[in-house]
Amino acid sequence: MSREDMGTGPQMMALDRALVLSLAVALRTAEMYRADNAAALAVVERLAEHFAQRAAAGPLDVEVRNRCIFAGGRRVRLTAADYPRLAYLMRVFGEWGVQGLTFMPSLSAEHLREFLWAAAHDRAGNPEALFDRLSTAAVAEIDLMETAGGRQTSRRARAEAGLGPWGDTPESIYLRALTVAQDAVDCLRGGDAVAAKRIRRVTQSIVDGVTSDPSSLLALTTIKDYDVYLLSHSINVAILASLLGVRLGFTKTQLGELVLAAFLHDVGKTRLPEALVGKPASLSDQEWVQMRRHPELGAMVLVEQRHPTRSVMRALRVTLEHHMGYDLGGYPRMDGLSSTCLFSRVIMVVDRYDALTTPRPYRRHNFTPTEAIALLADQAGAGLDPVVLRHFVQMMGVYPVGTLLRLTGGTVGVVESPPPEGAPSTRPVIRLLKGNSTISLAEKDARGTFLHEIAEVVNPGNVGQVPAVRSEGLVFEVRPHG
Ligand SMILES: [Fe+2]
Ligand SMILES: [Fe+2]
Repeated sequence: MSREDMGTGPQMMALDRALVLSLAVALRTAEMYRADNAAALAVVERLAEHFAQRAAAGPLDVEVRNRCIFAGGRRVRLTAADYPRLAYLMRVFGEWGVQGLTFMPSLSAEHLREFLWAAAHDRAGNPEALFDRLSTAAVAEIDLMETAGGRQTSRRARAEAGLGPWGDTPESIYLRALTVAQDAVDCLRGGDAVAAKRIRRVTQSIVDGVTSDPSSLLALTTIKDYDVYLLSHSINVAILASLLGVRLGFTKTQLGELVLAAFLHDVGKTRLPEALVGKPASLSDQEWVQMRRHPELGAMVLVEQRHPTRSVMRALRVTLEHHMGYDLGGYPRMDGLSSTCLFSRVIMVVDRYDALTTPRPYRRHNFTPTEAIALLADQAGAGLDPVVLRHFVQMMGVYPVGTLLRLTGGTVGVVESPPPEGAPSTRPVIRLLKGNSTISLAEKDARGTFLHEIAEVVNPGNVGQVPAVRSEGLVFEVRPHG
C-alpha cells in the first residue's frame, strides 16, 4: 500500500497521533527505566507496532516545525490533553538540536529499543556521538533529519563553538570527515560494510561548507599528512572536487554525489596490504602491478555494499575510471568504452593536483602548487579533460593556496586565500610566517601603488606545499621528508 493509498482520512490521522504519542512515551520510559524492564519493553513493542503499520508508506519523518509535530510531512492533530507529551518531544529534539528523526520501514523493535536507551542517556551531548555508539544496523534504520542548512549539531555544541543555528566550522567539517574516513577504512579492512549514512552526512556538510565558506575549506586541503595519506587525500580530493563542481555549475544534488565519489575514489586501496599503500619508498614493478588494481578493487568494494544507491553506483564508476585518463590511455584498459564520465574527469584533475602537492619521502623533488599546476597544464587533452582543467587552473589562481612566497623586502608568507573579488589573479592573501598576521597583496597606498610585490615562489626544504591554516586541534607543522 502506497502513502497515497493509505489516504489522509481519520484512520491515518488517528494512527499518526498514536505513533507520535507512543514515541514521546517511549523516550520518557527509556529515561526512567532499565531496558530489560517488562513495562518498558511493552511500550517499545507498542511503538514498533505503530511503525510497522506505517511501514508500507516508506521512510517516515517525525519532525517539529513551528511548534507543531509533523509525521510523513503531514501535521499531526493533537488535543490539549496531548500537550505535555508534545512539549516533551519538542524538548528532546531541541536538546539534540535536530528537527526530527527519520524511521526506515525496516525498523525492528530491537533496534528501536537500542536507539531509545542510547538516546535517553545522551541527550545533552552531540547527537553525532549518540549515533556513533549505535550498531550499524540501528543507524541504518533511524536517522537524524537534515535540513536545507546542512547537518545540525547539538545546540550546546553550536553555542560553545559560537556558531549560528545551523553553523559548522570548516575545521569541524574537516575533523568529522577525517573521523568518518578512518572509520570507513577500519570497517573495510575488517571486512565490514561502510557506514554509508555517516559518510553521506559528512559529504553533505562538505557541500554546505564549500557553498558557504569556500576559502577556508580550500585552505584546509593544504593539510597533507603522509602518515594518514589515504584519509587526508580522500578528504582533500572531496573538497577540491566540490569547489570545482560549484565552478562548473553542478546542482546541490550533483555536488553531493560528486563529493561522495571523490571521498571513495581510492577505496580499493583498503583491499591492498597496508605496507604497500603506505610504503615510504618507490614501488617496484611488481608492486606497481598490485597498486594498479585499486580501481577494480574499489569497484568491487562498492558492488558489495548492502544498499547500493544511485550515488554509490556513480561513485563506483568514478572509482573504476579515475586513472583511465581523458584519452583512456591510463589504467585499467576497458574495451568498448568511448569516454569516462564527467565526475571521473573532474576527480582525475583534483586527484593529481593533491598527489603532486603532497610531499613523498621517496621523491627527489616535491612540487610547489605553482609547479603542480604547470605540470597538470601539460596533460591537457591527453590525460586530463582540457575544459575541466581550465576551470581548475582559474579556480586555484596563479599562486594557489599553500604556496610559499618571498616578497621583495624579504618577508616570507603562505598563500592563505585566493585574490579578493576584483583583484588581479596574481595578488592573493598571504599569512606571514613571522608574526602570523595576514596581508593582502592587492593592497595599495594612497597613490594607487601596490604595497607588496612578490620576489619568488619558495620550495621550503623541498616540501612543496605549506599548510595554509592554523587552528587548534589540527596538526599543521611542516615535516620535510627524506
Ligand atoms: Fe587512485
Ligand atoms: Fe587518489
